[in-house]
Order: sequence, then structure tokens, then C-alpha cells
Amino acid sequence: MKINVNENFKTFKDNYLFVECANKIAAYQKDNPKAKIIKLSIGDVTRPLPSVVIDALKKAVEEQAQAETFRGYAPESGYDFTRVAVANYYARRGTNVDSSEVFISDGAKSDCGNVLDLLGHNQIYVPDPVYPAYVDANIMQGNHVFYIPGTLENEFAPMPTSDIECGSVIYICSPNNPTGSVYNREQLTEWVNFANEHGCLIIFDSAYEAFVTGENPRSIYEIEGARTCALEICSLSKTAGFTGTRCGWMIVPKELEANGLNFNKAWSRRQATRFNGVPYIIQRAAQAALSEEGMKVCMENIEYYKANAAKMSEFLTRKGIKFTGGINSPYIWMQTKDNTPSWDFFDYLLNEAQIAGTPGVGFGAQGEGFFRITSFGKAEDYDEAIARLERIL
Ligand code: MLT
Repeated sequence: MKINVNENFKTFKDNYLFVECANKIAAYQKDNPKAKIIKLSIGDVTRPLPSVVIDALKKAVEEQAQAETFRGYAPESGYDFTRVAVANYYARRGTNVDSSEVFISDGAKSDCGNVLDLLGHNQIYVPDPVYPAYVDANIMQGNHVFYIPGTLENEFAPMPTSDIECGSVIYICSPNNPTGSVYNREQLTEWVNFANEHGCLIIFDSAYEAFVTGENPRSIYEIEGARTCALEICSLSKTAGFTGTRCGWMIVPKELEANGLNFNKAWSRRQATRFNGVPYIIQRAAQAALSEEGMKVCMENIEYYKANAAKMSEFLTRKGIKFTGGINSPYIWMQTKDNTPSWDFFDYLLNEAQIAGTPGVGFGAQGEGFFRITSFGKAEDYDEAIARLERIL
């Protein structure tokens, strides 16, 4: 063919980080068919969906089986009942979001990239280490990505610097994937003030908000001034175990605009053209998960994962290994043994203990010498993983 192509794809490594990990794990399993690998790499949940969600799914399936209750195309921005359920979820925590500002999607990863349809070419700032989907989506668009270093010294919660140009787009993920750090109220206020003063847009990823403890903000809209500078992307993947069920949302405040473009109106227009909505049965499941009854079970599951994190944290502390995360986050971000390069440490753990995690450098240059372990696994796997690690760390 002689067509022009998106040359940006040629700058990518062959595989997305988690695919690269999965391929290596699969290759090891093929060579060692008897090995019982403990997979703590991609942050995929293991607790089943709450029964209230399953009941809602079954009921919705039955509705789809009857001519009287059958539904075809879903509204592209989401059924009102789901948009209201999300708004109520925020309201129960004292955060005001209007249901018309909630746009239901198939998850945070899609929205993190799709949102770029609203924007022209801008300087993009991300913390380093960072969830790789933000970076890849921007590279696909031909955007320049700049890194704000997260380090042990700043507890992986980098703050605004004078290097960030006016009119930039800044991705913030709090609680952070991969480091587990969380911005406190003062820090997030500093980011919001900075964005408003410098005409920047914050794309706030709150996918891990359900893990937040204490007074730390769970939504950027808890911070005064955020409605004029921030979009928020969230998902039920981690909160309600929807990694395989797929439902998330983006909050686009009515006040948000730049250069004569109102983002709420524009996003509605974008979704109408490029999206046919999340399936009815999934939105009923989401509505059930977001209900008070559903959320009670979801939070029990979150506690289950936090107990896994606590066990691993206790082990690392006992061994004198430095780490962050595990409290406001399902991720534990640990230093590799003797500062081994991250991918070598990945091989070491896989070969010597049949444990798979994610190499820190896969999240950015600042991640070199670190390693991420998820706490989304089964409780018994952490007892076994710790017993194995005890022998080699
Ligand atoms: C992760 O492991 O970082 C995430 O769960 C992957 C994802 O959400 O895409």
C-alpha cells in the first residue's frame, strides 16, 4: 500500500509493558510446565463480583430477553440511572458532581487516551514513574511528553515546578500507579492552584480512590478550584472488580473550557460520534456496584486486598527492604535487591521463586531499581510468596 501511516507507532517498543511481562511469564511456564507461578504483575483483581452485582446482571439479561423490556443502543454518555448512581457515589462523600457531568465509558484506560480528542498538540507532563498508557496514548498522537521525576526523596509525589510551561496538560494519578503514593489535600491544592494560574489542564486518574485512607482526597473535586482546571477519570475495575466487566466514567465539569471550547459540550459531541455507549447489562451492574449495598461488599474486597498488602509490607519491613505504597494503594513499590536492574530482578524472582511482578523501569526511567507487586491476588498466594521470598531476599 502507499498510504501514509501514523509514524508514531514506529517509535514504540514491540510490546506494551504488561504484555511484555505476560509473554515472559508464559515463556517461563512453557519451559517449566510444573512451576506454580505466583502472578503479582498486572493489577488484575481476583475477588468475584458482589452478589448484588450478579443479581443486577441476571435481571438485565432477562430484560433483554423480552420484547417489552429489550433495549438497543445505549445513550452514548450513559443511561441516566448510571450517571445518577455515579453522582450519588460522589455525593455520599460530600463531593458535588452533576449527573450531566458524568460520562460513562468502558474504563479508565480508554478515557485516558480518548480524552486527547478534545485537545490540540500541547506539552504533556507526567510523573515518572507513570502508568504507561498515558505516555503511549500521547506518543500515538505525536505529542511531546515531559517527565516530572518522582523519587524516594519526594515520596514519589512530585510537585509543580517552574519547568512546566503555561498551557500544558498534566496527568496526575493519585493514589499513584505504580508507586502507591497519594497526594494529600495541601499537595493537591498546590497542583490545582498551579494549573489555574498557568492555564493548564489536569487529567486526574482516580482509579484507585477506594484504597485511600484518612483525610487524603479521593477526588480532585474535593479541592477548591478544580472544576475550572481538571477532568477526572475513574473506573469500577479496581473498586468493584470490573476488570473483565468494563465500566468507568469521566467527569467533565460544565465550567471547563479553553480557547472558546466548552469541554462538557464537546465531550458529549465526541461521544455521540465515536461511541455507542456501554452495554445496558453492564450499566445495571455498575449501578448495583455503586449502590450503598454494593459498595459495602466492594469495600470488604478492598480490605481483603489491603490485608494482602499489609502482609507483604510487614515482610519487606522485617527484611529492611525499602518500599512505598501498600496503604492507600493496592501496589507495593519496592527497591530491588542490591539495586539490581528492574528487568534482571524480574528474571531473578521468576527463576528463583516463580514469582512474577512488574519491573519498575517499565513505568519510566525513575523506576529503574524498583519493582511493583500487586496485592490483588489471592490471600494464600501471599503466604506462599513470602515463604519463597524469605529464601532469596
Ligand atoms: C496495572 O497493572 O497497572 C493496571 O491494572 C493495568 C491497567 O489497568 O490497565
